[in-house]
Amino acid sequence: MSILRILQYPDPRLHTLAKPVAAVNEQVRKLVADMAETLYAAPGVGLAATQVDVHKQVIVIDISETRDQLHTFINPEILASSGVSDCEEGCLSVPGIFEKVKRAEQVTVRALDREGKLFTLDANGLLSVCIQHEIDHLKGKVFVEYLSRLKQARILNKLKKMQRKIM
Ligand code: NI
Repeated sequence: MSILRILQYPDPRLHTLAKPVAAVNEQVRKLVADMAETLYAAPGVGLAATQVDVHKQVIVIDISETRDQLHTFINPEILASSGVSDCEEGCLSVPGIFEKVKRAEQVTVRALDREGKLFTLDANGLLSVCIQHEIDHLKGKVFVEYLSRLKQARILNKLKKMQRKIM
């Protein structure tokens, strides 16, 4: 397993549309294992393949405190959603930024697991928000892009200053 490099906003590669996985093979399972290791090392609650510059529809999520409840979603599809949630979100590609985003409160998602088996999951709360956030990544959308232009400009400024400090 290896820790992968996470693209940092506003890297244009974060806007790439991810392709469906044709077959869940060893290569895909290796990607899932590497993404999980990267997620735990960060640490974060969710990671989409887009964020590690692999443009396949693969997501890993672990919202547990014990860090041992990994969910893998391959080719995820939201079948139904309901309610409204207004959660504060963050993102490993947008470090240090936390903003409220309007999402559905509940989602029903269908995806393939690590074994290539189709499953359906009803999610609410943080898991639901996380699933929606990560599926957005696969579509090339970063959560800050839901915010006003003014807020986005402020965030870009802040990130530039932070990146300058690191270099
Ligand atoms: Ni994110």
